[in-house]
Amino acid sequence: MKNPILVTGGAGFIGGNFILHWLGESLGPVVNLDKLTYAGNLQTLAPVESNPGYSFVHGDIGDRALVAQLLREHQPRAIVHFAAESHVDRSILGPDAFLKTNIDGTFSLLEATRAHLADLEKRDATARTAFRFLHVSTDEVYGTLAPTDPAFTEVTPYAPNSPYAASKAASDMLVRAWVHTYNLPALITNCSNNYGPYQFPEKLIPLMLTNALAGKPLPIYGDGLQVRDWLYVTDHCKAIAAVLARGKIGETYNVGGCNQRSNREVVTTLCALLDELVPNSPHRPHAQLITSVPDRPGHDRRYAIDATKIIGEIGWQPQESFETGLRKTVQWYLANQEWVQGVTSGSYQQWLSHNYANRAAIAPQEVTR
Ligand code: NAD
Ligand code: TYD
Repeated sequence: MKNPILVTGGAGFIGGNFILHWLGESLGPVVNLDKLTYAGNLQTLAPVESNPGYSFVHGDIGDRALVAQLLREHQPRAIVHFAAESHVDRSILGPDAFLKTNIDGTFSLLEATRAHLADLEKRDATARTAFRFLHVSTDEVYGTLAPTDPAFTEVTPYAPNSPYAASKAASDMLVRAWVHTYNLPALITNCSNNYGPYQFPEKLIPLMLTNALAGKPLPIYGDGLQVRDWLYVTDHCKAIAAVLARGKIGETYNVGGCNQRSNREVVTTLCALLDELVPNSPHRPHAQLITSVPDRPGHDRRYAIDATKIIGEIGWQPQESFETGLRKTVQWYLANQEWVQGVTSGSYQQWLSHNYANRAAIAPQEVTR
C-alpha cells in the first residue's frame, strides 16, 4: 500500500470534496487533520468513515508536537494544506483567528514539515525527494480587477484587500520563502471562488440556496455587479491532484473555472433553477426574494483567473460550465437536505460534543442572515 497523504482541513468544503474524490478514485490512503471549527463537518465524510484508507485526527495545524507525531507515525508522501479560516465577512468582523490559523498555523506546519524532512533525508533520501507540500490558496491575494483588466496570472503582483486575503497572501509568502531558503518541496495553487456540494451556507451560493428554499431574503451586497470566476469544486479537486502529480516544486498554478459572472447574475440564475426544479415551491418566483443590502467594506470588484499555465503545463481543464455546475449543485442541495439541516440546527457538531462532553459546549453558529 502507498504511503498516505496528510490533508489539513479535510472536514471543510473543499478538503472534504477532495478526500471523497481522492478515495473515490483510489489514489491512496488519507489522514485528515482538522480542528473542527464551525466550518468543519464530519457528516461530509460519512461515506468514507469506514474506509480502511481513511483516518481522522482532531487537532490544530498549529500544534507542532501533534503534527510532528503524525508525520513520524504515518510517513505521508505529501501534505495537502487546505486548513484555514476562509470567509471574508468573518475576517472583517474578527481577523484574529485568520492571522492565527492562516499565518501562524501555516508557519508551524512548515516548520514541522521541515524538521520531518531533515530526519527523512537521513533515513530515506528517495522518500525525501518524492515528498510534496501543496499549499492551497486563493486568487484574492491578487486584489481586485477593473472590468477591462486582464485576468490574474501567476506573476500578477500581490495586493490583498481583506484581512482574509492578507492572511492568505502572508501564508503564500511563507511557503515561497521555505522553498527558497530551506529547499522545502512545496507548490502553491491560487484558485477562484469554488461552489458545489457540502459548502457551508455562509458563502454566496449555498446561502442564497438555503435562504430561497426557506423563503428568506436573498441579500445582495451593494449593486451586485461584483464579478467572481466560479470554479466547480470537483474540477478544483482534480486540479489539485494533477498539480500534486505533475507540478514543479516552487511553482504557483492559478486554477479558475473560466466562468466570470456578476453576483446578480449568479443569484438570478439560481432563482430560475429553483423555479424549475421546485415547481411547487410557495416562494416562486424565487427572484422576488432578492434584496439589496449595504455593501461589504472594502469589497473587491472583480476576480478572474487566467488558467493558461495549468492548462498548458499540467494538462488540467475545468469540465463544468457554470450552468452545468450550478444545476448539479442545486440538485445536490435538494437531495441532501439532511446535511443542510444538520448545519442549520448545529447537530453537525455532534462529534465534538460527543467526544468533548466535559468541555465547554460550542455554540451552534448563526448561518443565515
Ligand atoms: P472551509 O472554511 O470550508 O474549511 C476549512 C477547514 O479547515 C474546516 O474543516 C476547519 O475546521 C479547518 N480548520 C480551520 N482552522 C484549522 C486549524 N487551525 N487546524 C486544523 N484545521 C483547521 O474552507 P474551504 O472553502 O474548504 O477552503 C479550503 C482552502 O481553500 C482554504 O485554504 C481557502 O483559503 C482556500 N480557498 C477557498 C476558496 C473557496 O471558494 N471556498 C477559494 C479559494 C481558496
Ligand atoms: P463569498 O461567497 O463570501 O466569497 P468571496 O467574498 O470570497 O468572493 O462572496 C461571493 C460574492 O458574493 C462576493 O462578491 C460577496 C457577495 N455576497 C453577497 O452579495 N451577499 C452575501 O450574502 C454573500 C455571502 C456574498
